[in-house]
Amino acid sequence: MAALEKVLERIDDNQEQALARLFQLLAIKSVSTDPAYTDDCVKAGQFLVDQLQELGFEAGLRPTAGHPIVVGKAKAARPDVPHVLFYGHYDVQPADPLELWQTPPFEPRLAEPEPSHKIIVARGATDDKGQLMTFVEACRAFKETGDFPCNITILFEGEEESGSPSLPGFLAENKAELKADLALICDTGMWDRKTPAITTMLRGLVLEEVVIHGATRDLHSGMFGGAVVNPIHVLSKIIADLHDAEGHVTLPEFYEGVTELPKDVAKQWRELPFDEHHFLKDVGVSIPVGEKDRSVLEMIWSRPTCDVNGIIGGYTGKGSKTVLPAQASAKFSFRLVGQQKPEKVAESFRAFVLERLPADCKAEFISHGASPALQLPFSSEVLSRARRALQAEWGKEAVLAGSGGSIPIVGAFKQDLGMDSLMVGFGLDDDRAHSPNEKYELSSFHKGTRSWARILNALAL
Ligand code: BES
Ligand code: MN
Ligand code: MN
Repeated sequence: MAALEKVLERIDDNQEQALARLFQLLAIKSVSTDPAYTDDCVKAGQFLVDQLQELGFEAGLRPTAGHPIVVGKAKAARPDVPHVLFYGHYDVQPADPLELWQTPPFEPRLAEPEPSHKIIVARGATDDKGQLMTFVEACRAFKETGDFPCNITILFEGEEESGSPSLPGFLAENKAELKADLALICDTGMWDRKTPAITTMLRGLVLEEVVIHGATRDLHSGMFGGAVVNPIHVLSKIIADLHDAEGHVTLPEFYEGVTELPKDVAKQWRELPFDEHHFLKDVGVSIPVGEKDRSVLEMIWSRPTCDVNGIIGGYTGKGSKTVLPAQASAKFSFRLVGQQKPEKVAESFRAFVLERLPADCKAEFISHGASPALQLPFSSEVLSRARRALQAEWGKEAVLAGSGGSIPIVGAFKQDLGMDSLMVGFGLDDDRAHSPNEKYELSSFHKGTRSWARILNALAL
């Protein structure tokens, strides 16, 4: 039997144990943004180090100013094979609101919403623990049946969901150790449950927080209201100004560096069976609010955006309180595409706010990170090999997709380590990533593992 066949058979025979290992990881509450879970983040990192060591990787937990980074290294038996760097993140988003979960978020379970359709339910199931374990399990099958087909370095971080503050520095300090021929990433989605996708475009992200200060203290709105500036009003007006009636973002020079799709890609996207109405209906809405002259797929895959993610100010408790607040704040995110420069967007935004500040108001700015958009060259040899491997596993051509989401470190892989990233993931739009009742298809876990075995094999040929 050929080596790959043995590996695939091993994966099939090992499904129950693989699921048990994933459940162990899912039970660890590795919420990166909340200091209450610092120990759990270490635990999740250590669990992965143990897994990798079991597979013969030279692996360790590397400290950072934040949560530790897992690095593991393994060599192929053959000398002339490519060196890949696999990246994933073991941290997860906070599980709240808890009351909306059908079962506790860190008690993973297998559910069967309809006959012969099984799903894994837990925080992190699809983002990113289930996904990263597809790669680890593929490595396990290689190890248990023979040798690794490529030289493999594994890099798991524990701060992706908080914007990866420690990773860029870690990459810079350990360049020689981490540089490979290609980065592999399993943190994106499929086209649908039966159709794989390779994500060739990933949006960048600029995260900005603004605090508007007015009076020196909260005031009685009867005694001072009408005469004293209200920071919530100021903030609301700035927010309202950020889009025009056509859905464009109004920041000066915001669209500089935004490129149009290559003709053939635009054509492929138009021909994809994507039902805008159904996509919107699924989340309870009906009319797209983005740029009027763009399709919904473009809006989420290849156009830049500005969103307010949260507003805080004044009295938000029960009942009412006649207060004139001294400050108001909001959190903004900008998704970037093409050659848009994260620093320029942040600068333009700050200037935009300052220009609109009335007398007696001050603005305070807090940056929560910035990363550029990414584009994999459509002509790359790696892409054709991955396409063939996915075709063999799923019996269907992989969609060359864009992605609305962002993975902050991917830009640094390209800029600082000169590596392209091959992004193949098995998540679905209805996986409820970041939401209550997050799930991962059992078929994604199983066939995702088989897909990585095929991809690694194809890269080494
Ligand atoms: N896995 C996602 C990125 C993603 C989302 C890829 C959707 C493909 C489709 C990642 O974990 C994520 O959530 N990224 C954040 C960025 C971050 C700084 C919190 C995002 O995109 O909002
Ligand atoms: Mn993720
Ligand atoms: Mn995420």
